[in-house]
Amino acid sequence: MDIALDLGTKNTRVCVEHDGKIIDEPSVIAYDRLTNEIIAFGDDAYKMLGRTSGRVDVVFPLDSSVIAQSGLVEELVNIFLCEVCQSKVVMPRVLACIPGEITEVEKRAIVNAISSFGVRRVLLLESAKAAAFGCGLNIMSPHGVMVADLGAGSADIAVLTLGGVSVGKTIKIAGNAMDEEITKYARRQHNLIIGQATAKKCKDEIGTVVDHTIDKTFRIKGRDAVRGLPKFVDIKASEVKEVIFDIAKNIAVAIADVLEDTPPELLADIHTDGITLTGGLANLDGMRELVEMTTGIRTTVTKEPQDAVVRGLYRAINYIDEAEAQKNSLNPLMMVY
Ligand SMILES: Nc1ncnc2c1ncn2[C@@H]1O[C@H](COP(=O)(O)OP(=O)(O)OP(=O)(O)O)[C@@H](O)[C@H]1O
Ligand SMILES: [Mg+2]
Repeated sequence: MDIALDLGTKNTRVCVEHDGKIIDEPSVIAYDRLTNEIIAFGDDAYKMLGRTSGRVDVVFPLDSSVIAQSGLVEELVNIFLCEVCQSKVVMPRVLACIPGEITEVEKRAIVNAISSFGVRRVLLLESAKAAAFGCGLNIMSPHGVMVADLGAGSADIAVLTLGGVSVGKTIKIAGNAMDEEITKYARRQHNLIIGQATAKKCKDEIGTVVDHTIDKTFRIKGRDAVRGLPKFVDIKASEVKEVIFDIAKNIAVAIADVLEDTPPELLADIHTDGITLTGGLANLDGMRELVEMTTGIRTTVTKEPQDAVVRGLYRAINYIDEAEAQKNSLNPLMMVY
C-alpha cells in the first residue's frame, strides 16, 4: 500500500494508492495540557481555535512547513495515516513532500515522524516537483518547467528539468504572514483584537492585491482593545490590499529572482510555456496578475491549486519502485529512507 502525504503548515492532505480520494483537513491538534490527551484534530480542532478553556491548547505543530513541535507532529501524522490505513498489517510506503530548502535535521525530523507510524519505507519529494506533477507537467524531459507553490508557511519556487531542480528558492513568508499583518492592522487601525481564524477568513473572502471598482467589505468581529467589550468593524478590501500587498510582492520578486539565475536555454522554455502557480495562496485575487506583471512571463493558476501537491505525490507513486531499486545511487527525483 502506498500513501501520498502533503503535510502542510495549514492543511494536511492524504491520498491512497488506487483510491484517488483526497483527505483534506487543517494540520491542527487540540490537546489537554495536563494529561497530554488529544482531544480533537483537523476540522474539529480548527473549530476550537481561540475558543478553548484553560487546559486545552490548539496548535498547528508545523511551522513554515518544517517540524516545530515534533511530538505533536508525530501525533498528527499518526492520526491521518490511521484514517486511511484500514489495518496496520500491511505496512505502507509513504511518499511525503518537503520544502526545497530544508536542513538535514529538519528532513530527519519529518522522516522520524512518519516512521513512528510503522511504515515500510519513507520517500521524500520536493514540493515544487510534486506540484509540477500535480499540474500534469512533464518534469522528466530536458525541458525547463517553472512552478511556484504558494502555501501558508512558505512559497516554494523552482525551475525543473530532467527530474531535478535546476534553480530553486524557498521563502518562509506566505499566507500565514498575511493573516498576521491583518491581525496587526485591525489592532492598530481599529483598536480591535481578532483571532487567527478571523484574519484568515477575511483574507480568503475579500483579500486582493489589485484594485477593484467595487470595494467589498468583510465584518471582522473581536474584542475592543480599550474597553474589552465585543466589537465589529466592516473592513474594506482596499484596506486588506494595503496590508498584504508587500508580502505578495515579495513572493513575485522571489519568482523573478529565480528566473534571473535560470540558465538561458531553460529560460527560453519557460518564456514559451509560462509559469504555473499552485498552493492555496494561488487563489488570492490578483496574485497571478502580480506575478505576470513582475516577471513579464505569462502565468497561470492550476485547477484546484491547493490540491496540486498531493495530486502530484499521488502520481509520483508510480516512480517509487524505480527509486527504491536505485536507493544507493543518485536518484534525481525522490529521496529514499
Ligand atoms: N481564496 C483564497 N484567497 C486567499 N488566500 C487563500 C484562498 N484560499 C486559500 N488561501 C490561503 O492559502 C493558504 C493555504 O494554502 P495551502 O493549503 O496550500 O498551505 P499549506 O500546504 O498548508 O502550507 P505550506 O505549503 O506553506 O506548508 C492559507 O494561507 C489560506 O488562507
Ligand atoms: Mg503546501
